[in-house]
Amino acid sequence: LWLIGLLGLLGYVLGSVAFGPLVARAMGLGDLRGIGSGNIGATNVLRTGSKAAAALTLVLDGAKGALAVGLGWALAGQDAAQAAGLAAFLGHLFPVFLAFRGGKGVATWLGVALVLAWPVGLAACALWAAVFAATRISSLAALVAAGLAPLVALGTGQGDALVLLLAMAGLIFWSHRSNISRLLSGTEPRFTRR
Ligand code: G3P
Repeated sequence: LWLIGLLGLLGYVLGSVAFGPLVARAMGLGDLRGIGSGNIGATNVLRTGSKAAAALTLVLDGAKGALAVGLGWALAGQDAAQAAGLAAFLGHLFPVFLAFRGGKGVATWLGVALVLAWPVGLAACALWAAVFAATRISSLAALVAAGLAPLVALGTGQGDALVLLLAMAGLIFWSHRSNISRLLSGTEPRFTRR
């Protein structure tokens, strides 16, 4: 049990490393809190105009979730993998390094899902991409993908991941509460094709 606790702590610290602000600073793109939604995730990095920086943020924020799950799995099995993945996701939402004001968790959630239950992770990526292609709204794509992921888990025999996926979906809806109210009032911004 102490090993699961240690892996959870490690996952949390890893998840607390928010790559958006680091990438934006390293690439001279300014302060994300003053841009677009003010969020620290890949979507808001994209609003600086740099696709490369956004892609890098997506990959790195996803990789920390994937790494946490992988470490947990390698060192202590399924329960530790889930604990470390959840901890990394919570770290991104409530990072110790940013006074607990973190991001919305979508990239990290994808990284966790891809390693923990890859069919769910792949389906989540596909759902995100399909909704984004149809609407050009990142938050809506995330909400649909996160909301449907637990059903995909049931449908693909990944029931072991169900509780964790439900918990993360709940937290993603909570972290997107301002997006949800903008979606409901029709004021959530879309990305334009360029
Ligand atoms: O990953 C976060 C995304 O779903 C919404 O980001 O910046 O539009 O609030 P944002």
